[in-house]
Formats: sequence, C-alpha cells, structure tokens
Amino acid sequence: MFRKESVMKNNRILTAHTGHINRMNLKAVKDFFLPILLVNSKNQILYANSAAITFYGYEKSELLKMNINHLNKNANASGITEPTLINLGRRLEYNALHYTKQGLPVEVHVNIFSIEYYGFNMFYFIAPVSMYNTDLGRNDFFKDAFKKMLDLILEITQNRDPYTYSHQKRVANLSYEIGNQLGLSKNEKVGLYLAGILHDVGKLGIPISILLKPGKLDKEEYDIIKTHCEIGAEYLKDFRIPWPIHKYVLQHHERLNGSGYPYGLTGKEIEFESKIIAVSDVAEAMLSNRSYRSALDMDVVLGELSQAKNTLFDAEIVDVCIRIIKDGTFKWEKLLHDEIIEIIS
Ligand SMILES: [Fe+2]
Repeated sequence: MFRKESVMKNNRILTAHTGHINRMNLKAVKDFFLPILLVNSKNQILYANSAAITFYGYEKSELLKMNINHLNKNANASGITEPTLINLGRRLEYNALHYTKQGLPVEVHVNIFSIEYYGFNMFYFIAPVSMYNTDLGRNDFFKDAFKKMLDLILEITQNRDPYTYSHQKRVANLSYEIGNQLGLSKNEKVGLYLAGILHDVGKLGIPISILLKPGKLDKEEYDIIKTHCEIGAEYLKDFRIPWPIHKYVLQHHERLNGSGYPYGLTGKEIEFESKIIAVSDVAEAMLSNRSYRSALDMDVVLGELSQAKNTLFDAEIVDVCIRIIKDGTFKWEKLLHDEIIEIIS
C-alpha cells in the first residue's frame, strides 16, 4: 500500500517551499556517458551534456533554444507529448521516439527525476534503446550503466547535500557488515547495500532551504523532511532489479513498537533489511558531526542503542552493530560498488 494521496499533498507543500541556490556544479552530469538534459517546468532545455549533444547531433546553442517536445517530431501528429511538469520528488519512466538533427528516428528510454538542483527542476536521463543491443552485450551494458548510475546519484547528492552523501555511504557499509555478521546470503547483502546507499535518496526531492536549514525545524518543515521515505520509494519502485529496495527504503524510519513513520508499522510488518538500515542509520548519525550539533561520544551512542533494544530496534541487530563499532577496525568510508556489481553478474 503506497499512500499516493499523501505524497501528492506533500509534494504540493514541497513545491511551495522550493528555493534555489546559486552555486553551479554540474561536473557529474557533464561527464555522464548517457545523454542528460536539464529542463525547466515549461520543458525548455536549459542544459545538455556532451553525450546529449553528440547523440542528437545539434549544436549546444541549438539545443538550448529548444523545447523537449522538439526532439519528438511526431508529438503533435500522434497526440503523444513528452510529459510536462511533474511534481518535485517524482520520477517518471517511459519509452519514446526521438529524432536526431539529421531526422533519424531513435527509440529512447527516458527517465525523468524531478528534483530541485541548482535552479533546475528536472533531469531527463535518456538511454537509447538500441544501446541495449550493442556488442557489449546486454549484461555488460547494464552492469556498467547500473554502476555509473549509482555513482551519479551519489555525486548529485554530494553536490547538493554533503551530509547525506557521506551518511548514505557509511550507513550502507555498516549495514552490509551487520548483514555479513548475521549470516545473510551474498544476494541478500547486495539488496541491503543498495538500499543502504540509496536510503535517503528521497532527500533529493526535499527543498534545500529545509534540508540544510541550520536552526531547528518547525513541525511543517519536519513533516516535509519525513516524506523522504515515500519520495525515495517512489523513485525506486519501478527499478527492475531482484530486490524490493523501494520497500527497504520506505520502511527505514519504522520502529518495532510502531512509533516510526510513514506508516507506524510494528515488529514483523517491517522488512528485516529496513530494521538493519534503521540501526545503522541512527548509529551513524549520532556518531557524526551535523550542522546543528557535534558528534556524540561513542559510549553515549552505544548506550542509547542498547536502551532501545526491543522497543525501537531489533535486539540482535543492535548487539551486532555495537560489537562492530566497539571493535574499531570497521572501514566506514569504503565504496563497495565494484564488489556488489561482481556479485550481481
Ligand atoms: Fe532517512
């Protein structure tokens, strides 16, 4: 059960809060190997990366004068148009027929992420469907695309909100190690790691003005922050991968006794992977500096976790987490993408 109405309501609030920041850092987008267009809410193209320029065959200056619908020449004749404004925090995916400057039709797979990013409202990631059939082979192409997509999402997060970037990486590593010590299979650990690395991806749909507000949040702002679980799940729910990572992400703020959000699930209703991420999430957050407070002392953190056993968190998971942190040899910063991709293939 996915509460679409509440997300839509919250998205309306989110849209009303949208603010812009000036610093421009598009390096991750610029160098990405697939065509990426950044457009505004009227579908005017505001930015095209070099892969998009090569793919469509237009000069950059030509592309920047165009509307996304100009790439789909049949739009008016067939009645099909590229989707117009989607609400902040939503993701859309579809196949379309686009045309290059030379008039060649090419079937493309379009992914739209609607996020506030340095003044742009939407990202169009465009993957030519023909690339799936190249000599690289389907598996290699997807492996490469998947890894690069993960890197890109992390880089976008880093540019927008360095706290979330570092937090997601460290939570993913800690969750993976907890899963390891609890005897999860290789396959289960991959799903857990992916959910860990993306667990706060929904924060891309939260306005910067709220996300990075230095002072205390008021109730309405905190309610908006809380929607990041549902926004993240919405981003991930159609990804055709073997793990229901959208569920793990959706439930990472649920608590055993029903005091969590968004649904107040209890005990067995919560996915085991979400329970692991919940413990790693809280442990990592308390052990790290934040804009509004310094890192807490390790003994305090471990004491808090211990106290929450069986009420908020699964006792076995907490015990393993405490053991890993106390041991002191755990590597928080390592990115495990390569290992993960190897297991997948
Ligand atoms: Fe979170």
